[in-house]
Amino acid sequence: MPVVLITGCSRGIGRAAALALAARGWTVVATVRGADGRAGLEAAGVEVEELDVTDAQATAAVVGRVVGRHGGLDAVVANAGRGLSGCFEDLDPDQVRALVEVNLLGAMHTVRASLPAIRARRGRVVLLSSVAGARGAPGSGAYNATKFALEGWGEALRFELLPFGVQVVLVQPGATATGFAAARQQGARVGQGPYREISARLSTLLAENVASQEPVEVVVRAVERALTDRAPPFRIPTGRGTRAQILAHRLLPWRLYEGLVRRKLALPPAST
Ligand SMILES: NC(=O)c1ccc[n+]([C@@H]2O[C@H](COP(=O)([O-])OP(=O)(O)OC[C@H]3O[C@@H](n4cnc5c(N)ncnc54)[C@H](OP(=O)(O)O)[C@@H]3O)[C@@H](O)[C@H]2O)c1
Repeated sequence: MPVVLITGCSRGIGRAAALALAARGWTVVATVRGADGRAGLEAAGVEVEELDVTDAQATAAVVGRVVGRHGGLDAVVANAGRGLSGCFEDLDPDQVRALVEVNLLGAMHTVRASLPAIRARRGRVVLLSSVAGARGAPGSGAYNATKFALEGWGEALRFELLPFGVQVVLVQPGATATGFAAARQQGARVGQGPYREISARLSTLLAENVASQEPVEVVVRAVERALTDRAPPFRIPTGRGTRAQILAHRLLPWRLYEGLVRRKLALPPAST
């Protein structure tokens, strides 16, 4: 049975994907950051390794142990990630750096360490991107930057790895019912400065968004498809309206798109 490494499995998409793939008979190695995250995984037949993906050496050591135990690796799912909300001037540079360390560099450490083994098996690389990797949104700029970066890197990787028979797939979830929203960090100065009004509007929208989150199983199905379809699409958007948002962003003239988004979000009027 294929061997897959999934990062960020203490909860949410990573955990649900690990359990679903183990139930299908895959050999799943799930990473968590602390002992608490192990609960329920081992009992379901999932192997657990502790890992903070910002540590490149530790990531390489985990992959080395997996390959040592199983003789190889067929797939990696770079899932670990987190959020940061707030208009750009309300964010501290350290908050932005920490986000990039996890969402972009953490995914890069994971994939870099896994690639020799994955190439040897003509395996799969799955990156957990987001609808936020396809279109920017106010109050989400730093998160957008990490996911846009993941998308550009993913495109390059796709071209580099196809000659080796390795497929790279970007999963692009819309709002999904996990612990993500609750764990999302807020900018250090949110609510204190000139962006008070827009931040208040955006936090109302975020709260409304929680009510329309998709169940985690929707994203798990996309991850399973990325891993098991003979020729999966390069990008798999998930959730109601996600594909439409991405298409509108790609196809509409910017002024029309901007007007639609500003109206939909009821943003304060532009000053001329
Ligand atoms: N939920 C959504 O609405 C949504 C939408 C689009 C994309 N996504 C993406 O989907 C992925 C999974 O998100 P989720 O919804 O499952 O969120 P979640 O429930 O908050 O889970 C995130 C996971 O990432 C782990 N993690 C965070 N920082 C880490 C680090 N430095 N090293 C290792 N693991 C770390 C967390 O572990 P700890 O428990 O140790 O913190 C947790 O297991 C993320 O990349 C996210 O950006 C989510």
